[in-house]
Amino acid sequence: LRSGDLAIDATVGNGHDTVFLAQTVGATGRVLGFDVQAAALGMAQDRLHRAGVSERVRLVQAGHETLGTHLPCEGRRLRAVTFNLGYLPGGADKTVVTRPETTVAALTAATRELGSGGIITVVLYTGHPGGAEEAAAVREWAKGLPQTYWSVLSYRFVNQRGTPPALLAIERGSP
Ligand SMILES: C[S@@+](CC[C@H](N)C(=O)[O-])C[C@H]1O[C@@H](n2cnc3c(N)ncnc32)[C@H](O)[C@@H]1O
Repeated sequence: LRSGDLAIDATVGNGHDTVFLAQTVGATGRVLGFDVQAAALGMAQDRLHRAGVSERVRLVQAGHETLGTHLPCEGRRLRAVTFNLGYLPGGADKTVVTRPETTVAALTAATRELGSGGIITVVLYTGHPGGAEEAAAVREWAKGLPQTYWSVLSYRFVNQRGTPPALLAIERGSP
C-alpha cells in the first residue's frame, strides 16, 4: 500500500485494521470498510475519529459480498483488501460470524476488483463453531486461483497450543 491508494477492510469490527489501512494510504488515499453490525461500525467510527483519519474512510453497513457494487471509488485502483474472519471480539452476540458462502463470494469479488501488484489478506480462525469449515472453504477456494496470476502464501503457527489463527496472503502478480 502506498500513499493515495484505495484499500478495503472487509470486516471492520472494532476498527483496528481500518485505522491501520487509513494511516497507510495517507491523507490522499481512501478506505472502504464493511461490517453487518451497526455497533461495530459505531466503535470503529470513534476509533477513526480519535486517530484523525475518518475523512478518508467510508464505512458501509452491508455484507462484504456486496463490495463490488460500491466500486469504483473516485477512479482509484484497489490495492489491498483485508479480511479478519469470525466474530466481533467483545461483541454482544458471538453468533454473528462470517460464513463460508459469503466469505468466498466476497473473496471472489475482491479478486475481480484488485489491481495488479495488489494483495488480499485473510485471517482464519478455527476455534468457534463453523470456523474450521469456513477456513477449509477459503483454503479450497484459494487453491483454485491460477498460479499464472496469483501467488498464495499460507502462514501458520507451529508452536502454539489450541487453535491459533492462520493467515493467507493472496498477491496478484504484475502483468
Ligand atoms: C474478527 S471481527 C473483525 C475484527 C476487526 N478487524 C478489528 O480490528 O476489530 C469479524 C467481523 O466481521 C463481521 N461480519 C460478519 N459477517 C460479515 C459480512 N458478511 N460482511 C462484513 N462483515 C461481516 C462481524 O460483524 C465482525 O465484526
